[in-house]
Amino acid sequence: MIKKAVLPVAGLGTRFLPATKASPKEMLPIIDKPLIQYAVEEALKAGIEEFLFITGKHKRAIEDHFDKAYELEERLKNSGKYELLNKINCFENLNFVYIRQKEPKGLGDAILCAKPFVRDEAFVVILSDDLIDPEYSVLNEMIKIYEEKKAPVIALEEVPISEVSRYGIVSGKKLNNYYIIDDLVEKPDLASAPSQLAIIGRYILTPQIFKYLENLSPGKSGEIQLTDALKLLLKETPIYGYVIEKGKRYDAGEKFGYLKTIVEFALKDKEISSDFIKFLQEKIQTFISNNKKSF
Ligand code: G1P
Repeated sequence: MIKKAVLPVAGLGTRFLPATKASPKEMLPIIDKPLIQYAVEEALKAGIEEFLFITGKHKRAIEDHFDKAYELEERLKNSGKYELLNKINCFENLNFVYIRQKEPKGLGDAILCAKPFVRDEAFVVILSDDLIDPEYSVLNEMIKIYEEKKAPVIALEEVPISEVSRYGIVSGKKLNNYYIIDDLVEKPDLASAPSQLAIIGRYILTPQIFKYLENLSPGKSGEIQLTDALKLLLKETPIYGYVIEKGKRYDAGEKFGYLKTIVEFALKDKEISSDFIKFLQEKIQTFISNNKKSF
């Protein structure tokens, strides 16, 4: 049974500057919920009980978000706003641990900080800027594969060739609903990409990964790369890949992807979807009639 999740949140969020100068990119909201909350809710649905956040500078807001907000809660109680109260006090009894990554030395280094927390158990890693449709349980599917194979499992998605250099890319053989991975490369250029199968920010790892991370030299962008450690781990154990269905993952880690995520979630939001659709229709019609020549 997998009970522990590691959420690396120490990244600098440079793609969203200046918004992320003093506040974490993981707190960027999709409508009214920050990205990091979607990640925690996804893990809870998969049976996770203990959460470790690998934090860095300017990440205090994440701790506050999952902590008790005494004054606010009293106010909401006194004014009878129980629905809102339930939205903010639902994480108070969960087990959250925070470890600070000393320097932003890469995802591999962040995962290494989790060693004392995970000890001898398998654990999940969630990168919160890959937002998975809350109705789709990719972690549960990955856990099923882990339970059968007792080996690491990573989430994959086929991406357009033009995007391979933004991801870790793998190659492997497809069997049933999973791949057996035979190679991994961090952010390859188009010519050296072994396929278009990209690593998406969900991993099930075993403590075997730590000894490779401990001895790893900096890789792509001068950072300690988890992908490089996984490639070395292949000598010791098979690694499986679970392919996420098309359209179920949103890339909220860059501006256009973030905007698309908000639109998709707004279209599904019972409270605002009908007004939002009307607004979009009007906007698009006006835009097209003002720019007739280009359409
Ligand atoms: C990280 C990993 C990369 C993976 C990606 C998924 O990169 O290093 O292998 O494909 O997450 O989102 P980052 O996006 O943090 O640069």
